[in-house]
Amino acid sequence: MPDTLTLTDNRTGLTYEVPIEDGAVRANALRQVKVEEADFGLMSYDPAFLNTASVRSAITFIDGDVGILRYRGYPIEQLAVDSTYLETAFLLLFGELPTKDELARFEHEVTYHTFVHENVKTLMTGFRYDAHPMGMFVSVVAALGTLYPEASKVDDPDVRLAQVIRLIAKVPTIAAWSYRHNKGLPYVYPDNDLGFAENFLSMMFKMAESKYSPDPALVRALEVLFILHADHEQNCSANAMRAIGSSKVDPYSALAGAAAALYGPLHGGANEAVLRMLAQIGDVKHVPEFVERVKSGEGRLMGFGHRVYKNYDPRAKIIKETADSVFEVTGRNPLLDIALELEKIALEDEYFVSRKLYPNVDFYSGLIYQALGLPTAMFPVLFAIPRTAGWLAQWLEGIVDPEQKIARPRQIYIGAAERNYVPVDQRTAGARDLVAAH
Ligand code: ACO
Repeated sequence: MPDTLTLTDNRTGLTYEVPIEDGAVRANALRQVKVEEADFGLMSYDPAFLNTASVRSAITFIDGDVGILRYRGYPIEQLAVDSTYLETAFLLLFGELPTKDELARFEHEVTYHTFVHENVKTLMTGFRYDAHPMGMFVSVVAALGTLYPEASKVDDPDVRLAQVIRLIAKVPTIAAWSYRHNKGLPYVYPDNDLGFAENFLSMMFKMAESKYSPDPALVRALEVLFILHADHEQNCSANAMRAIGSSKVDPYSALAGAAAALYGPLHGGANEAVLRMLAQIGDVKHVPEFVERVKSGEGRLMGFGHRVYKNYDPRAKIIKETADSVFEVTGRNPLLDIALELEKIALEDEYFVSRKLYPNVDFYSGLIYQALGLPTAMFPVLFAIPRTAGWLAQWLEGIVDPEQKIARPRQIYIGAAERNYVPVDQRTAGARDLVAAH
C-alpha cells in the first residue's frame, strides 16, 4: 500500500495523489488542486493550528491521550526526580544529557552571567511602583537586547550560544528585581556561590543577612517546578518564539514576544487565575455551586483542560506530590482543600469527563508558589524563568532548520469586494455605529 492520500475534487472530477510523510500531508500539496489554471489553489484552514504541524522537532514529545511528556526522550517523571533545572536546560538545548565536565562548565557559565548591566537597574526604577511584574519582565527582556547589538547575528553559532547563556542566566535576576520593585525594596545582586533556584530565592527575599539560606526542601521544590515548566513543544509562547525568530530578529526581541504570549490567562497566566478562583470560592462548601456555574457557561474552571492533554497532565501529578513536601515545611495552604474538592467533583462530573477536562500543570503550581511566599502576580514570571530554556531550544532548532522560512500564514479574505471611496459628507452610517450594531 503506498503512503499516499488520494483526493478527488468533486468540482472538477480530477483526482490527486498526495504523499503522506510522518503521518502528515504537506498543506502545500493542496495548491495543485484548482478549478481553473489561474486559481490560487486549495488551502487548508486551521485558525488555531488544531490539526496543523508547523515544524519537525526533536525536542519534546507529548502524547496527550495517555499523558506522556518527554524531553529529548527522557520521561518528565525521571527528570523531576533525578535532574536539576540547569542539566535539563542543557538537555533541551543541546539534545543530550551533559557529561560531568560539560555540566560543570555550563553551570559555571550560567552562574557567571547572572549579573545584569547597571542600566537595567535604572530602567527598572522607571516603572510605576505597582507595575505588573510580567509587564516589567517582557519589557526588560526586550531592552536587554539593546545591550548586546551583536545578538542580531543570529546565523553565527557562537553569537547564538552567548545569548542563550546570557538569557538563561539573567532572567531570574530580572524576575526577582521586578518583585523587589513592587515591594519598594532594594534590588539584590546575584550570589555566585548559590545554585540556580537558590540564587533566585536569595534575590527575591534576602534582606540584611549576609547570606540567604532557604530550606533545601523548598529549593528542591522550586527546582522541580522549573524542570516541569522548561518546555512543552509547540504551545502558544513557543510558537510565538519560533514565529518571531523566523524573521531572524535577535533572541531578546523574540523571547520578549514569547513571554508576552505566556502572560495571557489561557496560557501562563492560568495559575494566577486558579488562585484568584480558589480565593473567590472561599470555602469547600461552595465548590458544588461553583462547578454548576462553570457548567452553565459562567466562566471556566481555571487550571483544567488542555489543548493537547486529554488525560491527567503528567506535570500536575508531580506537582501534587511536590506540594506535599512544601506544605511539610510551610504548613498547609488553606486553599488546598478547596482545590482537592474541586478536582474530586470535576473528575466525577459528566461535563468534565465527556470533554476530557483534567487538571493541568497550573492547577496546583500556584498553591506551591503561594506557600513559598511568592505573590500571585509573580506566577507567570516564575513560569517564564524556566520556559526560557524551552523557548531558546525551540528558537535554536528553528534557526538551523533548512525548512525554516519567515512564518507567514495565509488568510481567507471575507471583507468587502472592491468599492469606491465615499467623501465624508456623503457617508450615512459611521464604522463605529456599524460595529455597535453587531
Ligand atoms: N472549564 C470549563 N469548561 C472548559 C474548560 C474549563 N477549564 N476548558 C474547556 N472547556 C470546555 C469548553 O467550554 C468546550 O466545551 P463545548 O464543547 O461545550 O463548547 C470544550 O471544553 C472544549 O474547549 P476548547 O476551548 O475548545 O478547548 P481548547 O483546547 O481550545 O482550550 C484551554 C484549551 C485554553 C487550556 C482551555 O481548556 C481553558 O481555557 N482552560 C482554562 C485555562 C487554563 O487552565 N489554561 C492553562 C493551560 S496549560 C498552560 O498553558 C501551561
